[in-house]
Amino acid sequence: MGSEKNLVIGLFGFGVVGEGLYKVLNQTPSLKATIKRVCIKNVNKKRNAPPELFTSDMNDILNDPEINVVVEVINDSKVGYEIVSTALKNGKDVVSASKKMLSENLPELIELQNKTGQSLLYEASCCASIPIIRNLEEYYDNDLLHAIKAIVNGSTNFILTKMFDEGLGFKEALLLAQQLGFAESDPKLDIEGFDAANKWVLLLTHSYGISTTIDKLLFNGITNIHKEDANFALSRNQSIKLVAQAKKLKNGKVATFLLPQFIDQDDQLYFVKNEYNGVVIESGFADKQFFYGKGAGSFPTASAVLSDIAALRYGYKYEYKKKNQHIPASLSNDFNLRVYVSFKDLADIAKEDFTTIEEWHSGNERSYLIGTIPYNSLINQIWWKSNETSMVLMPDSIFEDMELQELKKMSLSLAGLDL
Ligand code: HSE
Repeated sequence: MGSEKNLVIGLFGFGVVGEGLYKVLNQTPSLKATIKRVCIKNVNKKRNAPPELFTSDMNDILNDPEINVVVEVINDSKVGYEIVSTALKNGKDVVSASKKMLSENLPELIELQNKTGQSLLYEASCCASIPIIRNLEEYYDNDLLHAIKAIVNGSTNFILTKMFDEGLGFKEALLLAQQLGFAESDPKLDIEGFDAANKWVLLLTHSYGISTTIDKLLFNGITNIHKEDANFALSRNQSIKLVAQAKKLKNGKVATFLLPQFIDQDDQLYFVKNEYNGVVIESGFADKQFFYGKGAGSFPTASAVLSDIAALRYGYKYEYKKKNQHIPASLSNDFNLRVYVSFKDLADIAKEDFTTIEEWHSGNERSYLIGTIPYNSLINQIWWKSNETSMVLMPDSIFEDMELQELKKMSLSLAGLDL
């Protein structure tokens, strides 16, 4: 640990998070951290801060020897990477909230942190106000972390809540999420699951030491969810949420995916509403623990940036303990998922891929079936998210071999199906 130092900050970005940080820092004088310059694209835009703070030349910050901390909260992941890597090389500690940039470049950035001896912190990138990265990093031993399941995107959770609880339409709810500053500037990143997948890549590293990229993850967003799916959930006193999950299987490997899921009322995630996020951790001896807090928005995100800045005063660094001090876990593709699939035309469904089918219902507008399907069949295909097909995970969706045998006994005969 280093000795406490005065922090002189160069800030990149003055949007929802950047401006939030500026205000929050002004209200936290005890931190002895001051923003010296703010780099933005358009210096002519009117901002709620003294004009002399602003520059559009990134070198005004990156080459200023007095600035010892760079805070990067911009949208563009390519430029963000350039800023963060240059800052580290120039001997500055870095705090970032850019999940996409971090997820796309994490191995290189970890190497750069090691090489330069600087610190790169990014608590705000996942679940905004919830201190989840530092907890996973410091508190949970690898062997004891049995499972983690989480709502990591505020906008989609906000949209689903407004649709389920207040009867709003999808577009209306999305517009509201945008107006409140929760959504990404390209909201496709939220609603198609990319933002959550980027966060999940980061959380998998800190949970299990797993390095992966979003193109290797099984994920989807919430755009395929139909009103019939919502009605199905309501008829069972469930809601639908976009949930990321990782679980240690009996073979020691980790099953992971990020998909819409039916959530029972006795699940902690059921009560995570609006822009809140939630993380349920199952660990040996401690059993279940639940983290809850705002997952999007100006001040909640700025609060996590602030906490990282404070941690830099005592030289805090992620050590990537699960990667470096343990044998990192590896990902499994040897499990089945129990899913509900609703569709217009049975011809769109790869029904031959299902290991079991327990229930089916044929409707006028849409039909559905419930069954188990190998993870491998899903990761290699896209039928389950094409042609308006909607796939929602059942609660307790992971089935390993033995459990599957039991389920098979109860399964309907595929041949006899008349959907
Ligand atoms: N668009 C993101 C979300 C912002 O809705 O969760 C916080 O990362």
